[in-house]
Order: sequence, then structure tokens, then C-alpha cells
Amino acid sequence: MKVIWNSEIVERSEVRIDPEDRGYQFGDGIYEVIRAYNKQYFCLDEHIDRFYSSASKIEMHIPYSKEELKELLNRLLVETGVHTGNVYLQMTRGISSPRNHMYPDAAVLPMLTGTMTSVERDADQMSKGIATIVTEDIRWLKCDIKMISLLGNIMVKHEAHKRNAEEAILHRDGIVTECSSSNVAIVKDGKIWTHPDGNLILPGITKIVWKKCAEKLGYPVIEKPFSLDDLYDADEVFCSSTTIEVMPVCKIGNNVLFDQVPGQVTMALQKAYLHEIEKQCGKLK
Ligand SMILES: Cc1ncc(COP(=O)(O)O)c(C=O)c1O
Repeated sequence: MKVIWNSEIVERSEVRIDPEDRGYQFGDGIYEVIRAYNKQYFCLDEHIDRFYSSASKIEMHIPYSKEELKELLNRLLVETGVHTGNVYLQMTRGISSPRNHMYPDAAVLPMLTGTMTSVERDADQMSKGIATIVTEDIRWLKCDIKMISLLGNIMVKHEAHKRNAEEAILHRDGIVTECSSSNVAIVKDGKIWTHPDGNLILPGITKIVWKKCAEKLGYPVIEKPFSLDDLYDADEVFCSSTTIEVMPVCKIGNNVLFDQVPGQVTMALQKAYLHEIEKQCGKLK
């Protein structure tokens, strides 16, 4: 399978990563996951903008223009022949040899890699929903940066897995922030609540899209912190991310939210989200 390696598209077996690459040693890097449907990226500009924003928050210079990055990603899509899938794009701060915490000087080039995977939409899961657990948000205080050091996210995801759930809903002192790999929202009396953007959550691209859908459908979106009590008292709960789109939550711990059919608001958002995909990428089969 072809992959992006710096400014080129090469066979995966040709890629060489130095053991002193800062991504490998410090987790010093950023990434994006972008979905493609019908051989076209969805929300590509928004993802590229966030990639640049993450880079600037850690003072990392991207030695490519946004157009060059888009061109590389589009070539990858063509050369891999993937129809529906996810691209994982990562940039690390390059090599510090010998190992040194200090940022290297500007002459050290970052390391860019991008891999593409075929992944179908999981319509079945989208109607059945996912089981979740609630656990403490143990991550650092700059969760707005889409960075590759994901140990905190991985640990809570693993906890969810051990408790037979797909996702971990996180809280800080009783305030719900987001999930291990998605944003979370609750619906109460026809209104949608979600944590405001800021340093405690990742500003989701999927969230931008479903907020636009909610506005069109006439559901008010309240971007204010809400508590664990609000979560347990919600009519509906859903998670959102590039890979799972708008995903209903059917269970929180032992609390069952629905058995067969997700809530009305969540289903309306799913439908409207699909419409947004089809507007950009063409009709899905
Ligand atoms: C911690 C976290 N929050 C939110 C999201 C959702 O972001 P997006 O909708 O841009 O995929 C993700 C996606 O991976 C994530 O890892």
C-alpha cells in the first residue's frame, strides 16, 4: 500500500523512521484523521486548518503550504484506490540526536507520514449505538491540540474496553468534557448541550457539521459545561467524531438509554449529517 512520506508517495516498505525521531521518543507531534467517501475527502479544509492550528500551538513549522498538503492527500487517495476510508496524517518535530528535550533548531525538518485504510460506514452500529462508561478525565490541560501523545486517551479507552464498552465519557470534578476519542453531547427537552471549545476538549470537525445540522433543524445548541447529573438525566446522549459520525449512546455504565431505536434528535442529526456528506462527496450507496 502506498503512503505519504514527507513530500512523496512511496511504498510503505520504503519508509524509514529514525529511532531518535521526536515523535517516537517524546510523542512530539500532531495528527489528523480525515474520512473519505466516494473517493473524496469530507471536510478536508477544516481538517487541514486544524492541523495548522495544532502545529502553531506547539511552535512547529509545517514546511508545506495547505495546497501542497491537500495535493499530497489527494494523490494518496488516487494511488491507493481507496473508495471509502480514513487517512491518518502525522507530523513529528523530526530528529533530535542525541536525544534532547529542547526543540531542535529550524534546520531540522519535521517528519510527515500519511496512511490510508479502507473502512466502510457502519450503519448497523449507528442504529444500535454504543455502550459507554464514565471515568475521570486524567489527561493534561491542552486537549485542544490534536497531538500524538495519547496515553491518557488510550488508558481510559482501555478501561472502557475492559468494562465491555466502546467509549469512555470523561469528567473533571463532575463536569463532562468529552470522550476518549470523540466529543459528547446530551439532549434534554429538545435542546442539545455540549462542552464549549477551549483547552479541555478537542474542537471536533464533526461537531462543527452536526451543529450546523442542528441549527437547520431548529434544535438549540447550548455550548456550556454540564454535569454528570445532567448526563444521567439526559433524554439522549450521542458521541461524534470523523470515524463514527453522529453515534447514539445506548448505555452509560449499567443505565440503559434505549434498547432498539435511538432518540429522535440523534436520528435527525444522523440523517442531516449524511446529507452533508452527500453534498460534498456525492450520493452514498
Ligand atoms: C479526544 C477527541 N475528541 C474529539 C474528537 C472528534 O474530533 P473530529 O470530529 O474532528 O474527528 C476526537 C477524534 O478523534 C478525539 O480524539
